[in-house]
Amino acid sequence: MFNKIFHSIFSPIMFLVILISSIYAANHELYSPDHLIKVGFRLKHGVPYYFVEKSGREIVRSSRLGFRFKEKINLCSGFKVEKVEYDSIREIWYTVWGEESRIKNYCNIMRIYLEGGKKKGGKLVVEFRAFNDGIGFRYFIPEQRGLEKVNIMDELTEFNFAGNWDCWWIPAYRPQRYEYLYKKTKISEIDTIHTPATIETDIGLYLSIHEAALEKYSSMTLARKGETGFEVDLVPWSDGVKVKGKLPIKTPWRTIQIADTPGGLITSHLILNLNEPCKIKDVSWIKTGKYVGIWWEMHIGKSTWELGPKHGATTENTIKYIDFASRYGFKGVLVEGWNVGWEKEWAGAYPSPMNFLKPYPDFDIRKLSEYAKSKGVFLIGHHETGADILNYERQMEDAFKFYEELGIPVVKTGYVGWGRDLPRLNEKGEVVKEWHHSQYMVEHFRKVIEVAAKYHIMIVAHEPIKDTGERRTWPNMMSREGARGQEYNAWSPDGGNPPEHTTVLPFTRLLAGPMDFTPGIFDLTFDEYRPKNRVNTTLAKQLALYVVIYSPFQMAADLPENCEKRLDAFKFIIDVPTDWDETRVLNAKIGDYVTIVRKKKNSDEWYLGSITDEEERSFDLDLKFLKPGIKYVAEIYRDGENADWKTNPYDIIIEKRKVDWNTNLKLYLAPGGGAAIRFKPVDEGE
Ligand code: NOJ
Repeated sequence: MFNKIFHSIFSPIMFLVILISSIYAANHELYSPDHLIKVGFRLKHGVPYYFVEKSGREIVRSSRLGFRFKEKINLCSGFKVEKVEYDSIREIWYTVWGEESRIKNYCNIMRIYLEGGKKKGGKLVVEFRAFNDGIGFRYFIPEQRGLEKVNIMDELTEFNFAGNWDCWWIPAYRPQRYEYLYKKTKISEIDTIHTPATIETDIGLYLSIHEAALEKYSSMTLARKGETGFEVDLVPWSDGVKVKGKLPIKTPWRTIQIADTPGGLITSHLILNLNEPCKIKDVSWIKTGKYVGIWWEMHIGKSTWELGPKHGATTENTIKYIDFASRYGFKGVLVEGWNVGWEKEWAGAYPSPMNFLKPYPDFDIRKLSEYAKSKGVFLIGHHETGADILNYERQMEDAFKFYEELGIPVVKTGYVGWGRDLPRLNEKGEVVKEWHHSQYMVEHFRKVIEVAAKYHIMIVAHEPIKDTGERRTWPNMMSREGARGQEYNAWSPDGGNPPEHTTVLPFTRLLAGPMDFTPGIFDLTFDEYRPKNRVNTTLAKQLALYVVIYSPFQMAADLPENCEKRLDAFKFIIDVPTDWDETRVLNAKIGDYVTIVRKKKNSDEWYLGSITDEEERSFDLDLKFLKPGIKYVAEIYRDGENADWKTNPYDIIIEKRKVDWNTNLKLYLAPGGGAAIRFKPVDEGE
């Protein structure tokens, strides 16, 4: 009876208890639903600090919180705790698309209301959320002291780790934005880095530091402080201010994902859970899929983006790609170099020559859109801004409208520049240059998503701002690059991505969200075009990447003729889905290997991707993820006995085996190799 009354008064989803605590209490504590993770808050002489533990193991030691402002307001010291609120969330929500169709958002909440002293002291609220897979906290700066516009000069948040642990990171404030190979060093050897940054502790835990729901704020980099800690280093505007805002301000969430295994980081949904629910009412036009395109041929130098004798984006060539897509069931055909502007200096150029409404004369966009439609496919548009935001924002609305009229539902955007040269008109009307990952660009990228949604357009962004889970709120934000992708194998003077790179990405960049890596190169050496470059994998590993690297839009990146030469292997790319019900990690060691299985949405089919670095490996895989009592045909694409990424990358074995959930599957991965498997329930009579 009590239970009934209790539940009718308090909703089972949101259980709210307000505790007015004593302002003298030393610690305020919050536990995750499984009671293993603890977050603590305390004031030391009026300065706010927090700490994090799991099962009694210290993760983050006493670390500072607060802000410095340009205005006369003190939000860093002199505080008293005014009140503490406890809340919780117990909800299940459904994704529009993703690695999982159903996500559990269970967390406990603690809100600390701080009040400063009389002189300059202000009000600040810190909200902590504790999940079973980590913690998040954000600040809420309410309206106060007659202030409206404010300038944050520093966010004082620290992460003082309890040990000098190993960390995988990429440097911040560099010309290639997020496109660097990840390094693994001790925390003490780091300077300033981007997030997500991943830490392997020596206390049996794996951590990822990142942020969620980055909006109207500058992006967070981490600057090392002391031997084993970081402090938040917000990317400044050109005038040195870190964040320009209007009160009230809600900051992005600062997140620490905590897992007992590396795979636990991959299956954590903490970042998505800290984003707002979907804002698009009718999502029926948002669909995942696979695409091909006029792209790799420019990267290897077979054709050019700009108009000329080797122009790639001609009507004739596009027809060839449309036919190819239609023949094998691909939905999209990307065409780069279709518009006026590429013939001039465009990368990081100001003013940019790009015109997003004017096709080159040899590219009949209307005819091609119609032709694509008649073949059951669509064109994917391309906006290479060359990082001139002013030029892009002037044309953006018309450019999306133009694409919508033509029936082009996906646009790939690009921001090639040198990281710190993005033009903005300041208050005096002068052009100033901003960082690629500044608040200016955070706001620009969000604007693009929202304007695109208005015209029913999905976005795949290259040179993007890092992903902080926006896809939950704006599911038309499909995929991004934001790391070294396949293209580095086509032209990078350093020899491209080493075999290890893709065994690091799932535990670093991919924890932020989907990546448009563009796997699927079949001619791995392309000697005819670039004898000094090559793809540093076996052929089987190219297939495995479709499962390992999640993206709702996956490209089959190679030239049609190369794919058609290996139709037996290409079949895996034709079959593999891009939308899943469930994801599990069967084994993993960061930077060495990873095996992931995913269940196709609304189906009993499972897909497996397993990859290794330059070392060969043999795995005994347990297939307990399969449905008991059902027989499956496993269509296996694996490295042959003599395969080796360097000397013999094409040695692939394609075979079928009957398996069930009791089968123990032995899998061999060659140096730089991988395996891809489709598990298909056996049909009657098969
Ligand atoms: C860099 C992007 O990553 C790539 O995909 C694109 O082809 C070029 N920029 C040109 O826009």
